[in-house]
Amino acid sequence: MTQTADEPLIEVRGVHTHYGASHILHGVNLVVRRGETIGLMGRNGMGKTTLLKTIMGLVRPSGGQVHIRGHDLRRLATHQVARLGVAYVPEGRGIFGNLSVRENLLMAARPGLDGRRDWTLERVLDTFPRLAERLDHGGQQLSGGEQQMLTIGRALMTNPDVLILDEATEGLAPLIAREIWRICDLIRASGISSIIVDKNWRHVTQITDRNVILVKGRVVFEGDSQTLRAQPERVTQHLGV
Ligand SMILES: Nc1ncnc2c1ncn2[C@@H]1O[C@H](COP(=O)(O)OP(=O)(O)OP(=O)(O)O)[C@@H](O)[C@H]1O
Ligand SMILES: [Mg+2]
Repeated sequence: MTQTADEPLIEVRGVHTHYGASHILHGVNLVVRRGETIGLMGRNGMGKTTLLKTIMGLVRPSGGQVHIRGHDLRRLATHQVARLGVAYVPEGRGIFGNLSVRENLLMAARPGLDGRRDWTLERVLDTFPRLAERLDHGGQQLSGGEQQMLTIGRALMTNPDVLILDEATEGLAPLIAREIWRICDLIRASGISSIIVDKNWRHVTQITDRNVILVKGRVVFEGDSQTLRAQPERVTQHLGV
């Protein structure tokens, strides 16, 4: 399990993914290195979630390769991907409504791959003051924004090296969405790599090092935020905004 410092945490090479007869991803490449924050963008149905599921081993690619810290995904069970330090916060919210905020967080707790326990209950509560105020509330009593915070908090409790967020701000009031962006910034500053899927390219490019745009399952743009911001016509063309 030794890893050289610059070996990618996630490496997707020429991946094709199908759902039955529907060919969704067409030869996608994506590399995530230590400490990098990557924006993954594209209109509805372009394959963003499918790519994330493929990385997590929830959907098996029909071609190409995925390596997680140098391990071929084909030889890993789904739960092993998470054990390799990749935390996935899917679209929608996966919390336990019948458990309290505290219980939800504590049951997710585990050290990172190298034994790190940087993210403790205390640190997560410092990061999410709203959760601290609702520690003994049941998950089902939380607002949508608080549930999203709890889902991210649970992911941090696993001390991941990579955090994958799929539409974390979707449907949230602007003030709450801003809070999520603030947290993304803190996560980035803490050295955790992330892949952030979000429709708001202006917010995304404020915190990402690199951005990837998918159109119909193909990467049509890959570049840093400055480069993307300097090409508003490309944003309009590919993201329709
Ligand atoms: N389980 C499934 N079975 C069959 N087709 C699916 C399945 N999940 C997604 N698709 C199709 O695959 C394509 C890509 O979907 P995907 O969810 O990856 O897109 P997305 O970029 O995440 O979109 P959105 O922005 O709406 O979340 C879409 O055409 C979608 O209808
Ligand atoms: Mg999606």
